[in-house]
Amino acid sequence: MILETEFDIVAPHASSLIESLRAFSYELPTALADLIDNSITAGAKNIWVDFNWDGESSVIAVTDDGQGMSEQQLVSAMRPGSQNPLKVREPHDSGRFGLGLKTASFSQCRRVTVRSLVQERGAATRCWDLDHVARVNDWQLLRVADAAAVPHFRRLSELPHGTAVIWQQLDRLVANQRTDNEREQLMFLQRANAVRDHLAMVFHQLMAGPRGVRILLNQRPIDPWDPFLANEPATQILPVTHLNLRGVMVDVEPFVLPHQSKLSKAKHEAAAGPRGWNAHQGFYVYRNHRLLVPGDWLGFGWTKDEHYKLARIRVEVPNALDHDWGIDVTKSRALPPAALRDDLRKIGERTRSDAKRVYSHRGAKLTPKADEDRVLLWEPVARHDKTFYRLNRLHPLLKQVIAANSNRAALNALFRLIEETIPFPHITIENSEKPNQISGLFEHIAESQIREVMEQAFESLVASGYGANDAVNRLRTIWPFELFPALLQSLSESKNHAWHSWPLCECTQSSRRHSPKGKATFTRVDPGCWN
Ligand SMILES: Nc1ncnc2c1ncn2[C@@H]1O[C@H](COP(=O)(O)OP(=O)(O)O)[C@@H](O)[C@H]1O
Ligand SMILES: [Mg+2]
Repeated sequence: MILETEFDIVAPHASSLIESLRAFSYELPTALADLIDNSITAGAKNIWVDFNWDGESSVIAVTDDGQGMSEQQLVSAMRPGSQNPLKVREPHDSGRFGLGLKTASFSQCRRVTVRSLVQERGAATRCWDLDHVARVNDWQLLRVADAAAVPHFRRLSELPHGTAVIWQQLDRLVANQRTDNEREQLMFLQRANAVRDHLAMVFHQLMAGPRGVRILLNQRPIDPWDPFLANEPATQILPVTHLNLRGVMVDVEPFVLPHQSKLSKAKHEAAAGPRGWNAHQGFYVYRNHRLLVPGDWLGFGWTKDEHYKLARIRVEVPNALDHDWGIDVTKSRALPPAALRDDLRKIGERTRSDAKRVYSHRGAKLTPKADEDRVLLWEPVARHDKTFYRLNRLHPLLKQVIAANSNRAALNALFRLIEETIPFPHITIENSEKPNQISGLFEHIAESQIREVMEQAFESLVASGYGANDAVNRLRTIWPFELFPALLQSLSESKNHAWHSWPLCECTQSSRRHSPKGKATFTRVDPGCWN
């Protein structure tokens, strides 16, 4: 038992502490997202975010059709620190510190009015006015709304229940602005666009999922932004891992997004996200289906290198693990608990390596390696402890060209010169300075041209003794024709068709195929005849 003589009561000064509550590192989009969290926890199906330009009297309003609060609940909700962060919350509850409504609002404005309507119980209104608190240096929560706020309750008055949060005196957004300042008005609306992109990202699961939450910005519904392009056929979805932390499961699902060449321009641009492709690589940490971290390597020491930008890993954390993940007030930070770090690191490394492969090989699923079954034009060879790339003289096309050319010396000189002067340094620098500016494998090349190359390779195989069927099969192994299965199929069909429609070989009239090695004329003699 502590005696009265053994302590002083040091209550914070209302005027200074309430100003300090403004200092949490919110930005406009994250602050609004925090209000929307409350709406979603209150069961809202529709949430309206309205930006009303009126110079320094501009207003931002968030209205929802959630269950609303009684007068008593509203007063308690307006108290800074309305709930103990250590309290166990319902699984669907996005709150934690009992601060969000206040700190998010104060970070943007000096007056926040909340009006809430519970079905059949009428509405209650409360207002924090920072200037008033500063004047009286007391925590006086006003029971009346400022007259200018009243019109913004119109939307709420049309709902059976719900809550409206009205921000006035947006000193950090529109201080001292005149209503007729068009430039500032434009900037205000641009801020609304940034908010739209952020909300589309943060709440995409809740908007697209069974909850089907609708968020409307200035009356227009926001479309969810899916970071994983899960419906794109070229997206590689790796198996989900369920990590166990004290009996609570954390689901981790890695995605390797398609290479740029596998997406339309519009899709590629949309998938970049609000901060761009590079910034959005990494782990995506969700809590109650709400995105907290939109791409981060979570302190593993990996930089956001261009090569790994196709790696995006979904991590679902239940709110019971808030403390372990170091979720902060602004809900824009999360750090993995020590017990999960090793597993997450392994998953991250694997996904990064897969993503790099896809990035470097323009969408090919595997790095092509020369092996018995695959023919590459360029082959790496060791030369004085360094790697040297030489042209593969056994490549069917090269073989044919060599065979058909009597000036071997000139040909060899040409090949050597090509091999020695590949502009590697230039390509490497160019690629790192202007990623994606170097054209990929047959990128934007008409199919007819690719087919021409294939046909020539086919002819060279036939010329070296292959039958039509075998030549088509062998063609599949010549890099990079395997990337064009439809073309291979159509070539195969046309060659097989030709095969069957050719008359039997003149030399034998047998059904065996004639090798074109001899001087037999191709028009009269079946090019596949072995005789
Ligand atoms: N839009 C809303 N609808 C219903 N209740 C709300 C709404 N916004 C806030 N509240 C209530 O106010 C409380 C305090 O909110 P907040 O300051 O954001 O802290 P937290 O979300 O961490 O609890 C919430 O727990 C909730 O009970
Ligand atoms: Mg909250």
